[in-house]
Amino acid sequence: SAYVSTEKEKTLAMIKPDGIAGNYTDIIKKTILDSGFSITQEMLFELNEETVRSFYAEHATKSFFPDLVQYMSSGPVLIMVLEKVNAIADWRALIGPTDANNAKITQPNSIRAMCGLDLQRNCIHGSDSPQSADKEIMFFFNKASSDFFVTTEVYGPD
Ligand code: TYD
Ligand code: MG
Repeated sequence: SAYVSTEKEKTLAMIKPDGIAGNYTDIIKKTILDSGFSITQEMLFELNEETVRSFYAEHATKSFFPDLVQYMSSGPVLIMVLEKVNAIADWRALIGPTDANNAKITQPNSIRAMCGLDLQRNCIHGSDSPQSADKEIMFFFNKASSDFFVTTEVYGPD
């Protein structure tokens, strides 16, 4: 978690169902751009349970997994690729700790503090390492283009 890069990196962000339902999309995208990230790809998508199980496979044995799968497939999500120098660590710092209630106390300016509801409904995802970022971007964006609707629009802080 102390990984720092001086190279441009890409990371995966996802506004979760509670973030979309709570109308936090615009403020989260503004925060992303104001923090120096470019959004290089995005798609609004409704994940099915099988896709969530695969995306969160590392948590398959956890007691919270069935609830997580149900929640993440309960409504649309906005999946984005973010780019900047040190994007992976900086995005994790900007979203804050996993539990939104903890975030409100320890990192009140983080996205999870501002927009999340609790440990499960924490409004936003971020890849946790360079390996995860590669895997997660590939998972959603380097599949056969017929599998997903992918916008090719690129926009950034300027
Ligand atoms: P995790 O990878 O530990 O957190 P993060 O998203 O910060 O990388 O967990 C994945 C998601 O699973 C997390 O965002 C919310 C959910 N979750 C629960 O519902 N209950 C839990 O006890 C934990 C640890 C996570
Ligand atoms: Mg994680």
